[in-house]
Amino acid sequence: MFVYLLHIGFQDSISDVQGVSTCKNILACPICYVPLIWNGDPVLSVDAAPRSSLQCGSCKKSYFGNDTHLDLTVGSGAKEYGEDKPASTEIFRTPLVSFLYERGWRHSFSVWGGFPGPEGEFELSKEYLKPVLGGNIVDASCGSGLFSRLFTKSGLFSLVVALDFSENMLRQCYEFIKQEENFPKENFILVRADISRLPFPSRSVDAVHAGAAIHCWPSPSAAVAEISRVLRPGGVFVATTYILDGPYSALPLLRPLRQNIGQISGSHIFLDERELKDLCNACGLVGFTCTRNRRFVMISATKPS
Ligand SMILES: C[S@@+](CC[C@H](N)C(=O)[O-])C[C@H]1O[C@@H](n2cnc3c(N)ncnc32)[C@H](O)[C@@H]1O
Repeated sequence: MFVYLLHIGFQDSISDVQGVSTCKNILACPICYVPLIWNGDPVLSVDAAPRSSLQCGSCKKSYFGNDTHLDLTVGSGAKEYGEDKPASTEIFRTPLVSFLYERGWRHSFSVWGGFPGPEGEFELSKEYLKPVLGGNIVDASCGSGLFSRLFTKSGLFSLVVALDFSENMLRQCYEFIKQEENFPKENFILVRADISRLPFPSRSVDAVHAGAAIHCWPSPSAAVAEISRVLRPGGVFVATTYILDGPYSALPLLRPLRQNIGQISGSHIFLDERELKDLCNACGLVGFTCTRNRRFVMISATKPS
């Protein structure tokens, strides 16, 4: 069996003349952040995952692919130990929510929140992603992959990593891909990982997209700090979420109660764009900018060069 070192050529190919990364081998151990050694088929393709096993060059932990995705969570392989995440993470792990997500659940965001919908959000995000087109992109908390699929089919990126903590969301994404004729499966991979422990080396990623997810993350600051770590200088973070301002800000007790709501649900309610700017800046990202439509907001910030 051939053993391919993913980090061979990593330093050599980290950036090309336009500044975007040409390196596709960006998977790292989520414990050590050291590039993974790939045993078997080195083709980064969604079809290669079932045949794959990867090993950390430092701690030697092995990671495996199942039928649909590579499991690069810290807890992968644990047999006796398990832990539950907050409700806002666990709810998306259920087969029912994963099934319903693109069959109505996601559309409801447009109705109550003013989200432009997948095509509209994709077009908006492309504007922010212009400086990193041609590089690699991580669709963080991709859900069933509605944006990962659009990024891949657009051909605008050298590699698309669709990443989520929910095994069922990743399975659903795989099913959608199987149903699509001529989906470009190469340079597209499905990875299970926790947003606060990303399986990429520092400064290896050109772009991170996170659709409708920041408010679901157990700790938005731990997650954005992790995103900032993996972005290379000049790398772009684009995300969407919702803001409860306008008439909602008149709701009595919303501000004092949101901490309690957050503790129970695990989700974070943003009340002002300035909170998102502050979050990005606190995590080392600069050049914050955003687009609003009712409750919907798309934000972007950059890792300083
Ligand atoms: C509302 S869905 C967003 C899906 C998709 N990006 C979109 O734009 O519709 C939120 C996603 O965040 C994921 N998520 C929640 N907690 C996570 C965590 N700790 N790490 C990674 N993903 C997480 C959920 O599994 C879910 O797929």
